[in-house]
Amino acid sequence: MIRSYLFVPGDDLKKLDRSKTSPADALIYDLEDSVGPERKEAARVIVRDHIRALGAGGHHKVVRVNSFPTGLTAGDLAVVMQAAPDSILLPKCESQAELDRLGHVLDALEAREGIAAGRTKVLALVTETAPAVLVAASTRLSHPRLTALTWGAEDLSADIGAVAKAGPDGVLDDTFKYARVVCLLSASAAGVTPLDTVYADFRDLQGFEAECVTAKRMGFLSKMAIHPSQVEPINRIFSPSQAELDWARKVVEAFAKSGNGGVTQMDGKMLDKPHLKLAQRLLGTA
Ligand code: COA
Ligand code: MG
Repeated sequence: MIRSYLFVPGDDLKKLDRSKTSPADALIYDLEDSVGPERKEAARVIVRDHIRALGAGGHHKVVRVNSFPTGLTAGDLAVVMQAAPDSILLPKCESQAELDRLGHVLDALEAREGIAAGRTKVLALVTETAPAVLVAASTRLSHPRLTALTWGAEDLSADIGAVAKAGPDGVLDDTFKYARVVCLLSASAAGVTPLDTVYADFRDLQGFEAECVTAKRMGFLSKMAIHPSQVEPINRIFSPSQAELDWARKVVEAFAKSGNGGVTQMDGKMLDKPHLKLAQRLLGTA
């Protein structure tokens, strides 16, 4: 189970080196927003060589490519697929057609590189523009390669002209709450992992932990980090606690003992199907 994803700018040799020892479950080598236009081509090669040098095993390795409208996506993939990353993160995904298109490019590149067909998984950022949010809310995105859906507030702010995503109290404005919920429900509908977005104010660890706790309560199973200090809180908060595991085991036992798949009780509280489902999910992620 992947809880934490750490972003690493794809052209930054120092951070790439630093990321090797990160306790993050996954690393996202970024070719998109953290790489300037004049460094795009260099970053492809740096990321490819870095992943190659690491070899198989270790972190789950994700590459964030540039979005389709930039015209850079196929070129990014042509280079980084030479190193067989585990997953590709598609930003600013606005349609099912883009997921299908990415899948087709990966089909071809896997064949070219001698990588097992379908090995490369896909994660998608589905709320970075206004049309993207509306599409994710109204269609059921799906793809055999898709493993997670995530969302972003910064690009959405820029797209719609919001000055900030939250007020002084840090509580998200409705547009961004909506985008987060759309991501969560779309992921659930697609049967993939909901992945919560980054927290830019990396010196504010208290605010960060509060956001992790909310995300977990909502049903998110993982979160992206931009700074090494954010990884430990994610791993801790998104691991099921001992109390949660004990509760889940007791619920499963209570259903087994009752011999009744429908409703039972535990410590004077009603338990029905949704509780069993939640308990099984918690045990599955342990
Ligand atoms: N991955 C790996 N190492 C990182 C890192 C990251 N994302 N962010 C910081 N580090 C390293 C720094 O290089 C520094 O290493 P050192 O101790 O060997 O000098 C150490 O961690 C402490 O970093 P710090 O000085 O606190 O931060 P910074 O000013 O160097 O960097 C950011 C701040 C925000 C620029 C940086 O964290 C970063 O680039 N984050 C990722 C940005 C990104 O990918 N954005 C796209 C997705 S939204
Ligand atoms: Mg962005």
